[in-house]
Amino acid sequence: VKGFVAWSCLEGNCTEANMEIEGGDYKLTKQLQSGSMLIYNCPEGYYPYPALTRLCQRNGSWKPLPRRYLPQKCRLVECPDPNVLEYGNVSPPQEKYFVDNETTYECYAGYTHRGSSRRVCLPNGKWSGTTPICSRDTGDDCADPGIPPGAIRTGNIFGVGDTVKYSCNRKLFLMGSSERMCLENGQWTGIEPACYFKHTYDTPLEVSQAFGSGIKDTLTTLEPVDDIQEGRTIRIQKNGTLNIYIAVDISESISEEYINNSKEAVEMLVTKISTFTVTPNYEILFFSAEISEVVKITDFLENRPVNIKQELKKFKASEKHTGTDLNRVFKTFLERMAFIKQRVGEESFKEHRHVIIVFTDGAFNMGGSPAPTVAKIKNLVYMNHTVEGETKTQPRDEYLDIYMFGIGEDIYEPDLKALTAGSDGQHFFKLKDTNTLKQTFDEIISEGELVGLCGLHRDYVTDDGNSRKMYPWMAFIKIQVNVSNENLRNCLGSLVTPQFVLTAAHCFSFGDLPEHVTVDIDDGNGKIKKVQNFTLHPNYNINAKVKEGVKEFYDYDVALIQLSEEVKISTSVRPICIPCTQETKGALKLLDDSNCKQQEELLLNNQVERLSFLSKKGSWVFEKDVRAKLGDNRDACINHALQAPGVSTHDPKKVVTDNFLCTGGRTYYREHIACNGDSGSAVFKNFKNRTIQVALVSWGTKDMCKLSNNQFSDDSSRDFHINLFRVVPFLKTILGNNDQNEYTPLNFLSS
Ligand SMILES: *[C@@H]1O[C@H](CO)[C@@H](O)[C@H](O)[C@H]1NC(C)=O
Ligand SMILES: *[C@@H]1O[C@H](CO)[C@@H](O)[C@H](O)[C@H]1NC(C)=O
Ligand SMILES: *[C@@H]1O[C@H](CO)[C@@H](O)[C@H](O)[C@H]1NC(C)=O
Ligand SMILES: *[C@@H]1O[C@H](CO)[C@@H](O)[C@H](O)[C@H]1NC(C)=O
Ligand SMILES: *[C@@H]1O[C@H](CO)[C@@H](O)[C@H](O)[C@H]1NC(C)=O
Ligand SMILES: *[C@@H]1O[C@H](CO)[C@@H](O)[C@H](O)[C@H]1NC(C)=O
Ligand SMILES: *[C@@H]1O[C@H](CO)[C@@H](O)[C@H](O)[C@H]1NC(C)=O
Ligand SMILES: *[C@@H]1O[C@H](CO)[C@@H](O)[C@H](O)[C@H]1NC(C)=O
Repeated sequence: VKGFVAWSCLEGNCTEANMEIEGGDYKLTKQLQSGSMLIYNCPEGYYPYPALTRLCQRNGSWKPLPRRYLPQKCRLVECPDPNVLEYGNVSPPQEKYFVDNETTYECYAGYTHRGSSRRVCLPNGKWSGTTPICSRDTGDDCADPGIPPGAIRTGNIFGVGDTVKYSCNRKLFLMGSSERMCLENGQWTGIEPACYFKHTYDTPLEVSQAFGSGIKDTLTTLEPVDDIQEGRTIRIQKNGTLNIYIAVDISESISEEYINNSKEAVEMLVTKISTFTVTPNYEILFFSAEISEVVKITDFLENRPVNIKQELKKFKASEKHTGTDLNRVFKTFLERMAFIKQRVGEESFKEHRHVIIVFTDGAFNMGGSPAPTVAKIKNLVYMNHTVEGETKTQPRDEYLDIYMFGIGEDIYEPDLKALTAGSDGQHFFKLKDTNTLKQTFDEIISEGELVGLCGLHRDYVTDDGNSRKMYPWMAFIKIQVNVSNENLRNCLGSLVTPQFVLTAAHCFSFGDLPEHVTVDIDDGNGKIKKVQNFTLHPNYNINAKVKEGVKEFYDYDVALIQLSEEVKISTSVRPICIPCTQETKGALKLLDDSNCKQQEELLLNNQVERLSFLSKKGSWVFEKDVRAKLGDNRDACINHALQAPGVSTHDPKKVVTDNFLCTGGRTYYREHIACNGDSGSAVFKNFKNRTIQVALVSWGTKDMCKLSNNQFSDDSSRDFHINLFRVVPFLKTILGNNDQNEYTPLNFLSS
């Protein structure tokens, strides 16, 4: 199947005559050639009317044709009618409500108000806030589910098993559930309906919240769980495989910018999903009338290596894409699923979950309706348990989610909504364009709920210019030097659990008490955190080797600070991963039976390993770059310790034990050097979008920072960092302590 428009002898290019729009402008996807889409653009709060787009046909005429009596203009965005409120007043009463119009809601006497009492019509055609509801306590099992603006409801009894049905006023399309039933737990099934105009769309925030919570549920369902038995935590690996199928529409009506945006968005989505412990199989394709399979799920099943990013980058849309065959997309997915089932067998296939994500402009015009194919997919995954008459065992709708993203101005909602599937939550979204899609997916998995995931971070400075999202684990420690004066000792530290901060032992002096210490972490609940207790490594003793010619001995220079309260985990406050924990095993995607040594081999593997740590200057935080010299390079590096002040021994190993990593010099790279206030700073490595702390800044041979403002190493300056792999038993006795009820312990590996 090639084109969908028969070759006509009346060929010609379109013209721009009568195409202008009052109050806006337009762009053409392929100039005036046939197949070009004319897309009108209006300022925020306005939408193009009567047409949103026009298509240049082969014979040189536009579809739809402009009509003289209906000039194209930008119209004010309208919100659906709020005067559907029962038992209350809406003011001001108006026939129509436009963007920025404000409404207030008041219930009749004797009725209780829920939802917003004031709403504003937003530029995306929706009302701000939530549906106002006026109800009387009738002793019903479910609360009055209300009537969203523009909707009509039938059903006024809210007992268990009762249903309410919704429809939308003329010209509006119903999103969400058209029917809801009251359940025994007092909740309504489905999701609240909403009435959309053609010009109504979902904001990136709405998409990221709704789609995000859905995909997160799927991903966390497969996360391993901890089970506490006889005081011991046992980690149970969940059975099951996740297959994700993504399809991106590249039919000719679509611009290159759209394709670029979609590629980036898909890449971001895959990246975000990769931060979970679950490793899904992917099928990714681009489609028009033809299918371009960019990532093959069969490769995952055959354990062939797949570089999704590279494959996406490599893909170039050819000029020939014409028509849109959505049915073929679903047929391809169905074939892949059938293949998987055959390959893994019926029993294993029961444990496979499938998530289909389709981005389309919705104008499918070839290959027939995809609905029967979607029905077949449901049959395959549900294993026919939903078939009428059969004894229904467990419903299997959580094993299949089909998300449809309708993109652009001209989508046909009913057709797309009918293709969605899934047990809960919104599965159909209307987006204005793909410009914010990447950002939308970026937001999805960075919210606070994923407390268990250490080391998640942004790899760029966010719009607010705050670096907390890049280094959400950073902690600033202040210790009162002397109770009677205001002088403070400053150190850096890292959040390693919601209640513990890791730092250097030498930050503390004899006689310091928890009340002299504060930790600065801005989690939105106040910046300055009180300290309940701190514990230095029991072997830390700065004077241990004075007699052997080491005036200050920094072995075991590590301490843990317990905060009085847990900090609130969010995008900007989150623990870093530390060695030899289950959490880090997940972050590194190591196998279940892997041990601590394998983590070390993965992180400190090269002879010269690139690592980073943070430094703070005033309120400015920046990252310093160093190279740890390992293996054969280490001896030469630690030799420089003999030049440090206060060292009179000739054996560098007496000064720098095996517990240290050595950085500095400029043989390999112009390395940064640690300054005074950097003590305790996490020395970390980013691995597959997660940050793992491998060491902490302890001491150095030269105070380069004092001499000048120079932050770079010279030939002989060296810094030494406590290697966390060497102090795991200490970390484990405190952070992994199962015999207390004060805090949630971390799960350390047994070997
Ligand atoms: C259509 O326009 C293109 C350039 O945009 C030109 O090369 C081509 O000859 C035109 N076709 C006709 C039929 O006018
Ligand atoms: C161009 O083609 C379309 C359908 O292919 C037809 O509806 C329309 O009338 C044609 N216009 C002209 C000017 O021939
Ligand atoms: C509602 O918005 C329209 C268009 O901006 C405006 O003309 C009208 O005055 C507004 N009504 C109220 C009550 O603010
Ligand atoms: C996982 O599957 C294995 C066999 O395939 C079974 O023995 C085990 O009980 C399953 N575990 C869970 C948590 O379902
Ligand atoms: C799309 O991406 C390609 C390569 O990544 C680039 O050359 C091209 O200019 C981009 N096009 C648009 C419209 O952004
Ligand atoms: C499911 O139903 C289809 C027809 O609807 C049938 O072809 C298929 O064999 C059934 N599969 C199972 C596992 O019962
Ligand atoms: C503080 O930590 C020490 C161990 O370093 C412990 O002995 C002591 O009981 C703790 N105190 C409190 C109040 O938790
Ligand atoms: C994820 O990690 C890869 C390298 O593993 C890196 O190229 C990419 O920029 C990272 N992306 C994000 C969003 O952190």
